[in-house]
Amino acid sequence: MKHKAFQILTDNWENGYTIPSKNLYPFQWFWDSGFIAIGYAHFDLNKALTEIQTLFNAQWKNGFIPHIIFHKQSDTYFPGPEFHQAHLHPLANKKYPSTGMTQPPVTGFVLEKILEIASDKPKVLKFIEKNIDKVFSNHHYFYTHRDPNNEGLAYIYHNWESGTDNSPIWDAIWDTFDAPEISFRRLDTNVVNASERPTNKDYYNYLHLINIAKKYHYNDDEIAKNSPFLIQDPLFNAILIKSNQALINLYKKIGGHQHKINQLKTWQSKSISSFNKKLFNKELNAYVHFDLRNNRPIPMVSSSSFAALFAGIPTKDIAKKLINTLRLKFKKDTLYLCASFDPTHKKYDPVKYWRGPVWVNLNWMLYYGLNAYGYTDLAETIKKDTLELVEKAGFYEYFDAQKASYSKNSSGCGGSNFSWTAALFIDLLNTK
Ligand code: DGY
Repeated sequence: MKHKAFQILTDNWENGYTIPSKNLYPFQWFWDSGFIAIGYAHFDLNKALTEIQTLFNAQWKNGFIPHIIFHKQSDTYFPGPEFHQAHLHPLANKKYPSTGMTQPPVTGFVLEKILEIASDKPKVLKFIEKNIDKVFSNHHYFYTHRDPNNEGLAYIYHNWESGTDNSPIWDAIWDTFDAPEISFRRLDTNVVNASERPTNKDYYNYLHLINIAKKYHYNDDEIAKNSPFLIQDPLFNAILIKSNQALINLYKKIGGHQHKINQLKTWQSKSISSFNKKLFNKELNAYVHFDLRNNRPIPMVSSSSFAALFAGIPTKDIAKKLINTLRLKFKKDTLYLCASFDPTHKKYDPVKYWRGPVWVNLNWMLYYGLNAYGYTDLAETIKKDTLELVEKAGFYEYFDAQKASYSKNSSGCGGSNFSWTAALFIDLLNTK
């Protein structure tokens, strides 16, 4: 299995970066790249560092890192660069066509993890010294452009920025506006079964949000004023916070940079305090999304609710409540951990993309988060379930959460030979 995982990454490598999955996702994706680099760090350090370097090369002058970098033409993916038109932003990177939206900022903690894994630490430290300011300027972008109320919580303006594309969480937002029907040709459903992908109506919403951002040339202030989708997402912000801490640790390791460390600490304490105050829902005993546009929490539990553990955000007491929620709602004899959406909720769908299935990257974060808080048994269950799913059903994009669905010849869902599944499988195998 481990060799198969190496093989998938090597096959998906495209001279400088790794595609998430052939045909379905034929470019470089921000958070995919980060998780992928962690896998490479175990067997090919050059590729791990090059993967991240390529991502940094596409950074914009304002520190922004795009969610997709369109390194080449492809006729299997929509919407491509001609739809996004990210070049409308005056500070967009002229050399690398991309989208004008971002994804969870994983690069800080990824660099720290690569340093931890690699045996050639001087090489990684040299790379970090050369590039760490790029991550700092990416975080600076979030705190200065994505936090209009100065709360220490970044907003996202598109569901694709969350990574959890069609989660039932967003249904509350789709109900607030009517997206025009746009004529376009779906290409993803040529590659995987339509039942495993978002619907056409979902796509109208997704494209409508992009059209609004385009209308304002991707200007953040205008988006904050005009986008119907403006969310403080607990997964996105937990990753930002985890990466802040990694930056503090790494700057200390390389020496100097005291003013940046101070700045990071200021951001960090404000972020953690707001995260606990604003995003923890006392009725649900879980962190939830906050809809900034309509000034209301979205009271639903998802695997994003637990990402805070990975970032060390909850106090011990809150962690206990959160884990109790995980046990009550998600841990069932009939289910693998951890469904991406609350299995006790009527909108739960165990096989549809981000509406219930198990995702390896969220499980990976949960594994490390639970261990950090001392919940080692639960962490082991997450690890065992993740490895078992991949062993039973292959290196897929995501997995049906129901144990009864698996027999000898079962396969996973969505894209096959999926890079981050392979990469994080390698990392989990290497944990003790
Ligand atoms: C897609 O095209 O479905 C991607 O998830 C967008 O990031």
